[in-house]
Amino acid sequence: MDSSHYYHTLTLFITLIGLCYGDRVLPDTLFGAVEGNVTFTTTLTPTNTPQFTISWSVNGTNILTFANNANKVSPAYQGRVTLDNFTGSLELRNLALNDSGTYSVSIVTQDITTLQGSMELHVLEQVSNVVIKASASDVVEFNSSVSLSCSSSGSSPSYHWLNGSSEVTASDNVQLDDGGSTLTIVNVTRYDQGPWRCNVTNPVSNDISQSFNITIY
Ligand SMILES: *[C@@H]1O[C@H](CO)[C@@H](O)[C@H](O)[C@H]1NC(C)=O
Ligand SMILES: *[C@@H]1O[C@H](CO)[C@@H](O)[C@H](O)[C@H]1NC(C)=O
Ligand SMILES: *[C@@H]1O[C@H](CO)[C@@H](O)[C@H](O)[C@H]1NC(C)=O
Ligand SMILES: *[C@@H]1O[C@H](CO)[C@@H](O)[C@H](O)[C@H]1NC(C)=O
Ligand SMILES: *[C@@H]1O[C@H](CO)[C@@H](O)[C@H](O)[C@H]1NC(C)=O
Ligand SMILES: *[C@@H]1O[C@H](CO)[C@@H](O)[C@H](O)[C@H]1NC(C)=O
Ligand SMILES: *[C@@H]1O[C@H](CO)[C@@H](O)[C@H](O)[C@H]1NC(C)=O
Ligand SMILES: *[C@@H]1O[C@H](CO)[C@@H](O)[C@H](O)[C@H]1NC(C)=O
Repeated sequence: MDSSHYYHTLTLFITLIGLCYGDRVLPDTLFGAVEGNVTFTTTLTPTNTPQFTISWSVNGTNILTFANNANKVSPAYQGRVTLDNFTGSLELRNLALNDSGTYSVSIVTQDITTLQGSMELHVLEQVSNVVIKASASDVVEFNSSVSLSCSSSGSSPSYHWLNGSSEVTASDNVQLDDGGSTLTIVNVTRYDQGPWRCNVTNPVSNDISQSFNITIY
C-alpha cells in the first residue's frame, strides 16, 4: 500500500470514529416554551482553547459559524443566540413555535477531529386558562351522573383530576373520556362534592383550575 493510500484510509477511519462518537454529542430531543430560552448542551468537556470550528444549523439552514476565532451569526438569529466556543453548546432565546425543527452541530476540534450531532427541538405554548365546567350545577344523590369537563389553552395538554388532594383514576364510578379532559361520576353520592380540580400539564409547564364543588341533594 503506498503512503498516500495509507493516509487516506487512516483519515477515513478517524472520520468514521468521529461520526460514530458524534451521534452522542447531543441528546435526542429538547422541549422549549414560547418566549422561553433553551440551551443545546453538547457532551464535550470544556477545553482551555476554543474549538477549531463550530457550525450550527436548523433544518439544514445555517444559524452561526465559529471559525478563525470569530463568530458569524446569520441575520435571522442576531441577538438571539450565544455560543460557548469551548463546548459548542448553543443558547437560543425568545423562542417562537416556528423555531421547532432539527438542530445540527458540526465541530472540528483543535486536534482536527470532526464531531457531529443532531436533535429535535419542540417549542410548545405554556398551559393556561384551565377551567372546569359541569354538565349540571346540582345533582341528586344515588340517581344522577355528572360530567366535569376541563378546558385549557396551550400545546399538547395532558389532564390529571384531583378529588380533594387525591389524584383520580378511572373506576366503576368514574369514567375518563376525551383524552382525560372529561370526568364522569356515575351514581353520585354525597361524598363526591369535591373540591374537584383539573391539573393540566405539558412538557414545559402546568396549570391548575380553581376548585369546583358539586352541590348534591
Ligand atoms: C431568556 O434570556 C434572557 C437573556 O439572558 C433573559 O433576560 C430572560 O429572562 C430569559 N427568559 C426566560 C423565560 O428565562
Ligand atoms: C470564546 O468564549 C469566551 C467566553 O465566552 C470569550 O471570552 C472569548 O472571547 C471567545 N473567543 C473567541 C475567539 O470568540
Ligand atoms: C423546520 O421544519 C419544520 C417542518 O417542516 C417546520 O415546522 C419548522 O418551522 C422548521 N423550523 C425552522 C426553524 O425553520
Ligand atoms: C416565526 O414566528 C415569529 C413569531 O410568531 C415571527 O415573528 C417570525 O417572522 C416567524 N419566522 C418565520 C421564518 O416564519
Ligand atoms: C347507586 O349507589 C347506591 C349506593 O352504593 C346503590 O344503592 C344504588 O343502587 C346505586 N344506583 C344505581 C342506579 O346504580
Ligand atoms: C372523592 O373523595 C371522597 C373523599 O375521599 C371519596 O369519598 C369519594 O368517593 C371520591 N369520589 C370519587 C368519584 O372518586
Ligand atoms: C400538577 O402537575 C404537576 C406536573 O406533573 C405537578 O408537579 C404538580 O404537583 C401537580 N399539582 C397538584 C396539585 O397535584
Ligand atoms: C368547596 O367546598 C369546600 C369545603 O368542602 C370549601 O372550603 C370551598 O370554599 C368550596 N369552594 C367553592 C368554590 O365553593
